[in-house]
Amino acid sequence: MAAAATAKTMRALQYDKYGGGAEGLKHVEVPVPAPKEGEVLIKMEAASINPIDWKIQKGMVRPFLPKKFPFVPVGDLSGEVVELGAGVSGFKPGDKVISMSFPNCGGLAEYAVAPASLTAALDYKTPGGAALRSPSGKKYDAVAHCAPPAPWSTFKNVLADAGGAVVDVTPGIAATATAFLHKVTFSKKRLVPLILMPKKEEMEWLADMAKQGKLKTAIDSTYPLSRAHEAWAKSMEGHATGKIIVEMGSTD
Ligand SMILES: NC(=O)c1ccc[n+]([C@@H]2O[C@H](COP(=O)([O-])OP(=O)(O)OC[C@H]3O[C@@H](n4cnc5c(N)ncnc54)[C@H](OP(=O)(O)O)[C@@H]3O)[C@@H](O)[C@H]2O)c1
Repeated sequence: MAAAATAKTMRALQYDKYGGGAEGLKHVEVPVPAPKEGEVLIKMEAASINPIDWKIQKGMVRPFLPKKFPFVPVGDLSGEVVELGAGVSGFKPGDKVISMSFPNCGGLAEYAVAPASLTAALDYKTPGGAALRSPSGKKYDAVAHCAPPAPWSTFKNVLADAGGAVVDVTPGIAATATAFLHKVTFSKKRLVPLILMPKKEEMEWLADMAKQGKLKTAIDSTYPLSRAHEAWAKSMEGHATGKIIVEMGSTD
């Protein structure tokens, strides 16, 4: 079942070549996308900019992404379902959802299409930001490395002598080689590269945790769509404490 979207065109930000940073984002008026088979059309409430978004713009995964120019970036979406593509069940227009539209993205816009397989219902709220604290001065069984790449020597001495693992979400070539070496030598102290592979059931689990109040969202800053380039620049600085949000409905 499909419900008509409320508009034919929408405001969006897009870039048409690699590089350019925040200045490379152009405000445009473009047609509202139509959901294809297996997709939902979302009237966007907010999008969250992640470092991967400006890394794609920089050309770090060239020539694979973006698949074509011009490109409306950002894959973390939230909003209301307004239309269902063919074969989609489990959602209806009016459902509040979160979604990961990756690698097609399209989130810096008033409407975005997303795969239903990576969309989860959520009556979401936006609680205020919370301060993040860094641990120090101890030995650990496990370390999650979520900052810019750092050499293995940074980590090995903070792992417990009996053994432990560093889960690295920013693995480069050197970290990947180190991880391979640790694996084949059955090292007690190991580097484990992690690349996010979104799964609907895990998104539903997170949504449920948020609904129960067990998962709090830390928000660094929010911007209206008209100032999304400032949000982009803020993400590129690399010092956000929590999520950087672009809200589609708010004004300057
Ligand atoms: N593997 C995956 O699937 C995956 C998924 C998501 C994200 N990532 C990657 O993970 C990284 C973090 O993502 P994010 O969304 O958390 O980024 P973010 O919002 O930009 O977070 C930046 C954080 O890194 C800290 N930081 C910056 N430079 C640092 C340094 N030299 N040493 C220690 N801490 C530093 C900042 O703290 P200060 O302000 O105190 O410097 C801030 O807390 C990015 O590179 C992103 O691409 C990977």
